[in-house]
Amino acid sequence: MSVGIDEISFYTSNYFLDLRSLARAQQTDPDKYYVGIGQEKMGMAAPDEDIVTMAANAALPLVDTVGSERISTLLFATETGIDQSKAAGIYVHRLLGLGANCRVVELKQACYSATAAVQMACALVARQPEQKVLVVASDIARYDLDTPGEATQGCGAVAMMISANPRLVEIAPEVGNYTEDVMDFWRPNYRSTALVDGKYSTKIYLKSLKKAWENFREASSLTFGDFSHFCYHLPFGRMAQKAHQQLARVNKSELGAEQLEQQIEASLQYNRIIGNSYTASMYIGLASLLENSSHDLAGQRIGFFSYGSGCVAEFFSGRVVEGYERHLYRDAHRRMLEARQEVSYDEYLALYRYPDPRDGEHLDIPASTTGRFRLAAISHHKREYVVC
Ligand code: CAA
Repeated sequence: MSVGIDEISFYTSNYFLDLRSLARAQQTDPDKYYVGIGQEKMGMAAPDEDIVTMAANAALPLVDTVGSERISTLLFATETGIDQSKAAGIYVHRLLGLGANCRVVELKQACYSATAAVQMACALVARQPEQKVLVVASDIARYDLDTPGEATQGCGAVAMMISANPRLVEIAPEVGNYTEDVMDFWRPNYRSTALVDGKYSTKIYLKSLKKAWENFREASSLTFGDFSHFCYHLPFGRMAQKAHQQLARVNKSELGAEQLEQQIEASLQYNRIIGNSYTASMYIGLASLLENSSHDLAGQRIGFFSYGSGCVAEFFSGRVVEGYERHLYRDAHRRMLEARQEVSYDEYLALYRYPDPRDGEHLDIPASTTGRFRLAAISHHKREYVVC
């Protein structure tokens, strides 16, 4: 029996800022963003959207297909949590009408926790193959204005159904891990924006890749040449390109620059116009690869590198299942991305500065998301979600 990803769906806000607008406001060359970091647009959450509504929107098609009663566990990965006690997944559980016997838990370790959730889900399914485990990863990436991180913001959620005999990607049990206590990116509980030592974070990302790969090679007989494609954690596209070149170099690969680029290009396409979605980003990259690759991926092996600042990293592998293309949400994803609305720099600032009451005051939030779920109000420190 194999275990892995049976379905994958993602969601992002209907608003985006083109990084050319940001560059204009900052009097920076737009190529610094379009070429230098490899990003074109960044998603901006509507005032009535948060990690809960995005996660519910991402998961809705999967729950509709499988049936809410069949889901035994919901694992919610995020690093932009809305409550330090209650799991955000419990709101999602209600919005999606999941069964009262479905367990729910939230996982945190920066951008890595979605991979922890996927591995735990695989272990649960291996123990009881009739189970369906829903993994959602949802984040809103926010940095302070006028900092180097600002251009790498974004928002998005991904939902994956983990099951036995999956129809998309079988996940292999061998993994390589690397953990080190470092301060490259963090967000203390009292802050709404992340703190980051940008250059250092890129160095630690690359070091973790090397270490996780070495550990993977001890656990698995697979070599660099066994993989046709790779999905990397995607803080920005250029990071994945640098990572892939490094991995090819340490493995003394003879592939040329163009061939190496082909191994990752399809995985970068959605992220380039959504921005960083932290926990969701590598898996939106997987959806991007499956939905945009010009090659038939059936039977091909994909290498995954998941990185969470702080830091924990993991390299693992998956094999694409025959017939996978019949089980994708490609058209719905493309329609959603094409229907998005561009905001001006001033509108971006207004979204960025939208009030987030912390004193218990009542705040009604006007409808502006085009998603199925919205955050209608915050009152007495409680968030009120509704189905549109
Ligand atoms: N045309 C073309 N390229 C240009 C250019 C132009 N006009 N101007 C600059 N560039 C190039 C630079 O040469 C540079 O390329 P290299 O990296 O190949 O040298 C690139 O554009 C970026 O320019 P800078 O290095 O000057 O950019 P910066 O210092 O202002 O910001 C950053 C870069 C530090 C990564 C910043 O975006 C940042 O802090 N981002 C947030 C942190 C982050 O994403 N870290 C990634 C690893 S941590 C992680 O992965 C977890 C996570 O999700 C956050």
